[in-house]
Amino acid sequence: MSTDPRPRRGRLPLRLRRHAVPWQHQRPTWREARPAVIAGALERALARPSGNWYVLGASTDVRRTRPLSGTVAGEEVVVWRDARGRLVGGPGACPHLGAPLADSPVRCGTLVCHWHGLALDGAPFAGWQPLPVHDDGVLVWVRLDTVGEEPPTPAPFVPARPPRATALTSVWRGAGDCEPEDVVANRLDPWHGAWFHPYSFVDLTVVQAPGETPRDGGAGAGGGDGDGDDDRFVVDVSFRLAGRLVVPVRAEFTAPGPRTVVMRITDGEGTGSVVESHATPLGPDGSGRPRTAVVEAVLATSDRPGFPLARRLAPALRPLMRAAAGRLWRDDLAYAERRGHLRARGRFPG
Ligand code: FES
Ligand SMILES: [Fe+2]
Repeated sequence: MSTDPRPRRGRLPLRLRRHAVPWQHQRPTWREARPAVIAGALERALARPSGNWYVLGASTDVRRTRPLSGTVAGEEVVVWRDARGRLVGGPGACPHLGAPLADSPVRCGTLVCHWHGLALDGAPFAGWQPLPVHDDGVLVWVRLDTVGEEPPTPAPFVPARPPRATALTSVWRGAGDCEPEDVVANRLDPWHGAWFHPYSFVDLTVVQAPGETPRDGGAGAGGGDGDGDDDRFVVDVSFRLAGRLVVPVRAEFTAPGPRTVVMRITDGEGTGSVVESHATPLGPDGSGRPRTAVVEAVLATSDRPGFPLARRLAPALRPLMRAAAGRLWRDDLAYAERRGHLRARGRFPG
C-alpha cells in the first residue's frame, strides 16, 4: 500500500496510511492559503446571479400534513404541497390576524390556519399572495425578489447532480450568527481541511487554485458546474474513515452562485458525488445579530457493485451522513461566526 494521497481506482477504495503524519507535523498551508485568493474567489461568487432564489430546506421536510417554514432575511415564508403534490408557498403570516402558518396543519393539500380556520390552497386569497417556489427533488427554494433585488429567474440555478436513481442523498441544516458570505468564504478556503478537521481529512493538497497553473498539469479536468471557466479549487484529499484507514479522492470546489459552494468528487471513490452547501440569510436575531442557515445536500454515488445495497440502507446511513456534516459544520460555523464578528469590527485580515 502506498501513502500517496492521490486517488487511484483499485479493487478497494480504502487505503491504509502507513506513515501517518502527526497533526502538528503536517505541512503548514497558511502560505498558500493567501487571503487575497480566497477574497477574490468570494468576490466573484458574490457577483454571480441567484435570480433571487433561496434554499429553504430539504424536499423531504415538506410533509403531507405539515408545511415547511422559515425566514429569509427576516421574511417569514411557508411552503407545502397542494392536493396534486405540487410545492406551493408564500408569506408565513396568516392574512386574517397574522397567526404563524408554520404551526398550521395541511389537510388534503390545503393549509388550514389553526387560529380561525382560514384555508389556503396556494392561490391568492384574502390579501395573501403566493411566492414562486421550486422543488428540485432534493431541496426546496423560494424566490424573494424584494430581498434579492436581482433580475428574477423562473427557476433557481441547480448545480449538476448525479442521477437521483443512483445517488444516496442526505440533507443537513444548521444555523450560525453570521452572514452568508462568511459561510461561503469558509468553503472557499480548502486549505484548512486537514488542519481544522483532522478527524475527517488528511493528506490534503490544493493542486489548483483560481488563477494558478495546476501543479500536475491536468488538475482541472472533469466535472465542473458549467461556469465555463477555471474558477475552481482542485484538491487531493483523503477522507478519514477510522484510524489510519482512509479514502483518497480528488475533489473540486466551485461557487456557482453567491450563496452556494459545490464540492464535486472528480476522481477516486465516489466520482460524481456532490456536496452542495447553501447559505440562506435568516435575518437578525433578537439582539440584532445576523443569522444564516446552512443547508448542505450530499448526493453520494458510486459505480461499485455494493452501492445499490448502500442505497437500500439509506434510512440507516442518512443519520450517519448528517452526523458527519454536523460535526464539520459545528466547527466551520464557529469560524464563520468569528469571521463575521471580525469583519463587523473592521478587523478581518486580507
Ligand atoms: S389568524 Fe389565521 S384565521 Fe385568523
Ligand atoms: Fe471546514
